[in-house]
Amino acid sequence: MGEDNLGSVKQQISKLFEVSLKAIVPDESNLEPLVAACTGRFGDYQCNNAMSLWSRIKGKKTEFRGPPSIGQALMKNLPQSEMVESCSVAGPGFVNVVLSTEWIAKSIHKMLTNGIGTWAPKLKVNTAVVDFSSPNIAKEMHVGHLRSTIIGDTLARMLEFSNVEVLRRNHVGDWGTQFVIGNSILKGPISFGMLIEFLFEEFPNWEDAGEQAIGDLQAFYKASKQRFDADPAFKERAQQAVVRLQGGEEKYRAAWAQICDISRQEFHQVYKRLGVHIEEKGESFYNPYIPGVLEALSNQGLIEESEGARVIFIEGKNIPLIVVKSDGGYNYASTDLAALWYRLNEEKAQWIIYVTDVGQSLHFEMFFSAAKRAGWLPADDNLYPKVNHVGFGLVLGDDGKRFRTRSSEVVRLVDLLDEAKNRSKAVLIERVIFSFLYADLKNNRLTNYTFNYDQMLNDKGNTAVYLLYAHARICSIIRKSGKDIEELKKKGSISLDHADERVLGLHLMQFAEIVEEACTNLLPNVLCEYLYNLSENFTRFYSNCQVVGSPEETSRLLLCEATAVVMRKCFHLLGITPGAMG
Ligand code: ARG
Repeated sequence: MGEDNLGSVKQQISKLFEVSLKAIVPDESNLEPLVAACTGRFGDYQCNNAMSLWSRIKGKKTEFRGPPSIGQALMKNLPQSEMVESCSVAGPGFVNVVLSTEWIAKSIHKMLTNGIGTWAPKLKVNTAVVDFSSPNIAKEMHVGHLRSTIIGDTLARMLEFSNVEVLRRNHVGDWGTQFVIGNSILKGPISFGMLIEFLFEEFPNWEDAGEQAIGDLQAFYKASKQRFDADPAFKERAQQAVVRLQGGEEKYRAAWAQICDISRQEFHQVYKRLGVHIEEKGESFYNPYIPGVLEALSNQGLIEESEGARVIFIEGKNIPLIVVKSDGGYNYASTDLAALWYRLNEEKAQWIIYVTDVGQSLHFEMFFSAAKRAGWLPADDNLYPKVNHVGFGLVLGDDGKRFRTRSSEVVRLVDLLDEAKNRSKAVLIERVIFSFLYADLKNNRLTNYTFNYDQMLNDKGNTAVYLLYAHARICSIIRKSGKDIEELKKKGSISLDHADERVLGLHLMQFAEIVEEACTNLLPNVLCEYLYNLSENFTRFYSNCQVVGSPEETSRLLLCEATAVVMRKCFHLLGITPGAMG
């Protein structure tokens, strides 16, 4: 990879304009080249600096008479490059760049020889945490956790492809609080005490038979809650159980560990089915760090007393961030502060990304602000270390309301996957799961989306099934040609003489900057859109350019191969990896 990787086309063009900017206005500092791909008739890329640069310098002594003359100068001072075919200036100083078709063709051939890794974007970070999935112990994973799992996994994959070391973290709710949206019943470790007491009561021989006995943890939770509500003496015991659990009493710890294990097995089944890899560092992991972190914040004068609780006030917010509850217990926020501290200082992460539904935005906004007040994070959101909350919308049913089962509970993820299985007697289960993933990712994550099996399994339109067919078709074109593609890579070359070949070639070249954009803006749907357009561009090329048996056969087969390689990488980044799931 290394020296072979010069960054995306956009980055390379930007570098040229950086040189040109330095040459024409050497005294202006902090000038970023503003380069974008364009679809206009005049070029493939354009540089948009002229207007803003003009408003910067027009008061000063300058040889320029307006944006167009700046555009002209930018163009004239652009360093020689084999990438560039021609340039022109349009309107108020936009510099249009037409890429060299030969260069595009050569670059695609190079990628085929050296691998798609040479098209990885270059990002500004080395280490990132992606905190995703993160279900709660003793509670079922629901469709919100499904979205978090899918989106988080894809973001992690894209960052990994970009050579970032990614710590994939499952921040399971196993200690601090049960943070459950929707039918949240109990908050705080009291619910753990309740479950432990109920386990002792219902299954005296839990140590040997507990796991089998509990079986359905969701039902177990409900039954214990009923017991808890009905009997004050039981409630009292549950409270005691929390104290003994937190005091580290062996029997209580063991019972708790067993309950956690049952949940964990359920979670793992889901991850296995989706082909997702994630490492658990649950809330309990950070528990030992909370006192020290809070003490440091307290010494900085950030923590104040308010109505018996200990809180951090945040500018612009009416309510403070509670870090120690009035009963002395820690909560979701105290755990998240400790986890952030750990990730910044122990794990040296430069970018920490949290994937949950948008309902939690306020929590993240507040504790991010607290971290800024403490000086853990720079005040400027563009600087590193950086945190981002990747929020996503709801999944809606056909009725436009929150997606629920008939009993109007939040849909259980396992049921969703089982339903997927039932529907796919004829098709591969894998394919259904891919459709699932794709249907979720192709939406802008911030908007709600409607869950519809028939739509996501359609083989036309922007669906996984359609795209997988498109890819299979390309492979079969190559196979049926009877040519050895490895041989062609070595001996042949690519040329892009037909207009549709050039459009396809340019689109292939833009893969790196699309991944870069999807990463920096944390929007997987950008990649889906790219993939769909790629298959459309391929279709146009294939219907207008004869491949097998034409004089251009070698070049066109190589173009087919490059398209297939890029498509496969897109699938892979979206978590669609055929053969990887059970
Ligand atoms: N367990 C939480 C939930 O189910 C999500 C945790 C997200 N991560 C975090 N560091 N707060 O809603």
